[in-house]
Amino acid sequence: MNPKIDRRKFIQITAMAGAATAIMPHSLFSSPVVNEKVKLGVIGTGLRGQWMLWLAAKRPDVEIPAICDIDDGMINAALKILKDAGQPAPRIYKNGDEDFKNMVANESLDGVFIATPWEWHHAMSVAAMNNGIHVGTEVPATLTVEDCWDLVNTSERTGKHCMIMENVCYRRDVMAILNMVRQGLFGELLHCQGGYQHDLRHVKFNDGKQPYGGGVEFGEKGYSESKWRTEHSMNRNGDLYPTHGLGPVSTMLDINRGNRMMYLTSTATQTRGLHKYIVEQGGEDHPNADVEFKLGDVVTTVIKCANGQTIMLSHDTNSPRPYSLNFRIQGTQGIWMVDNNSIYIEGVSPEEHRWESDVEYMKKYDHPLWKRFGDQASSSGHGGMDFFIVRAFIESLKRDVSPPIDVYDAVSMSVICPLSEESIRKNSTSVKIPDFTRGKWKMNKPIFGMNEEY
Ligand SMILES: NC(=O)c1ccc[n+]([C@@H]2O[C@H](COP(=O)([O-])OP(=O)(O)OC[C@H]3O[C@@H](n4cnc5c(N)ncnc54)[C@H](O)[C@@H]3O)[C@@H](O)[C@H]2O)c1
Repeated sequence: MNPKIDRRKFIQITAMAGAATAIMPHSLFSSPVVNEKVKLGVIGTGLRGQWMLWLAAKRPDVEIPAICDIDDGMINAALKILKDAGQPAPRIYKNGDEDFKNMVANESLDGVFIATPWEWHHAMSVAAMNNGIHVGTEVPATLTVEDCWDLVNTSERTGKHCMIMENVCYRRDVMAILNMVRQGLFGELLHCQGGYQHDLRHVKFNDGKQPYGGGVEFGEKGYSESKWRTEHSMNRNGDLYPTHGLGPVSTMLDINRGNRMMYLTSTATQTRGLHKYIVEQGGEDHPNADVEFKLGDVVTTVIKCANGQTIMLSHDTNSPRPYSLNFRIQGTQGIWMVDNNSIYIEGVSPEEHRWESDVEYMKKYDHPLWKRFGDQASSSGHGGMDFFIVRAFIESLKRDVSPPIDVYDAVSMSVICPLSEESIRKNSTSVKIPDFTRGKWKMNKPIFGMNEEY
C-alpha cells in the first residue's frame, strides 16, 4: 500500500469493493452448455468480417456452414481463411443485396455475425431474428430511432438475442478501469468521456484497390469502407460512430442496469478536413474536389444520466491526429485519463494535484477475465479485445443465454447517431433519449464483466 494512503479512505474503498462483490448476480455463463458446437453464418465478409471469421473459425466449437457477401473478391478471401483453418467449404449466398434473406431462411443456424455497411445492420438483424437466429451485429446496430425500437421489439417477440459486437468494452485498460470503478477507487462517478478520434482520411478515400490511401476515390470507385462509409460523411452531420467510446463508459455507469441516459446535446464544428485532403492528394481539378461534405470535423455530444453523471463523446475522423478513444473517468475520489495514461486518486497518489502513471494500477486491477485469458487474447491480435467479443457471442450461443452486451445496450449505444444528428439540425437543442428497457433499467443488475467467466 502507498504509505501516503489515508487509512479512513482505504477502509472506505475496501468496504465498497466488498459490497460490489456481494451484489454480483449469478453468472450467466454458469448456465450449462446446450450446444457443444454452434453453427454460425457470416453476412459481410469484407475486412472486418474476414478478421472475425478467422477468430471464429479457429475455435473448435464453431462451424460456419454459410457466408454471404456481394463481392467475389471478399468472398474468395473468406473462403481461403476457412480453408486455412481446416473448416469445410461453406454454402455461399452472393446473389445481390437481398440474398441474406435466403441465407437466414434456408440455413439452420444458431447465430449470424453481421459485418456489412452500417445501413444494412438493422434489416439483416431483424431478418435473422425473425428466422429464429441469434444475432451479433457490428457497430452501430441501427441508424434511426424507429429501427432501434424495431430491434428491441423483434428481439422481445422472437426471444432471439441481438448482441452488439462492441469490442472496446473488452479492451484491457478499459476493463481494468471498470474493475477500479466497481471497487470504488474513483468514489462515485461524476463524469465520463469517450470518443472516436481516428484520422480516417485514408480510409474514407483510397485508390479502389487497397483499403488505405493511395488515392481520393470513394463510392463505386472505392475499396472496402470508402465504398460506403464516406457517403455518410457527405449526407449526415452527427456522431456517426459513438459506440467505441460509449460502450465502455456505459458498463462503468451501469447504463440500462440501475442508470440510464436521459437527454443529449450535440454540436459540430465546420467541415474542412475531407475537402482539404482531396485537394492536397488529388489536386483541385479532381472531380471529388467538388463534393460537399456535411459532417462537421469534430462533433461533441454531452449526455445527462438519470443518476446525475454527464458523458461527453467526441467524433473526430477528418483531421490529422493520433488515434485516441479519449477516455476520461472521473469520480468524487479520483480521475483517469487515457491520453497520457495517467491517474490521480486522492489519498492514494503520491503527490497532491499531480498525475501519476497508471501502469501499476493497470497491473494491480487487471480484470479477472484478462487474468484468465490474457495469453490467448493477446496472441489473437487487435489488442486482444476481439478474442473476448467473439468468445462472449459464441459462449452465449452455446448456452442459449442472453449475451453480456444485449439488445438494450445495442440500441442505447446506437441511438446516439440519429439523436446527435437531430440535435445539431436544431442548433444543439436538447433531445430526449428513449428508455428502450421500458422502465426495467431501475431493477436490472449489471451483467458485463462481472467475473472471470464472461
Ligand atoms: N468493431 C471494430 O473494431 C470494427 C472494425 C472495423 C469495422 N467495423 C465495422 O464492421 C462493419 C464492416 O466494416 P468493414 O471494414 O469490414 O467494411 P468492408 O467494406 O470491408 O466490408 C463490408 C462488406 O459488406 C459487403 N456487403 C455490402 N452490402 C451487402 C449486402 N447487402 N449483403 C451482403 N454483403 C454486403 C461488402 O461487399 C463488403 O465485403 C462496419 O459496420 C464497420 O463499422 C468494426
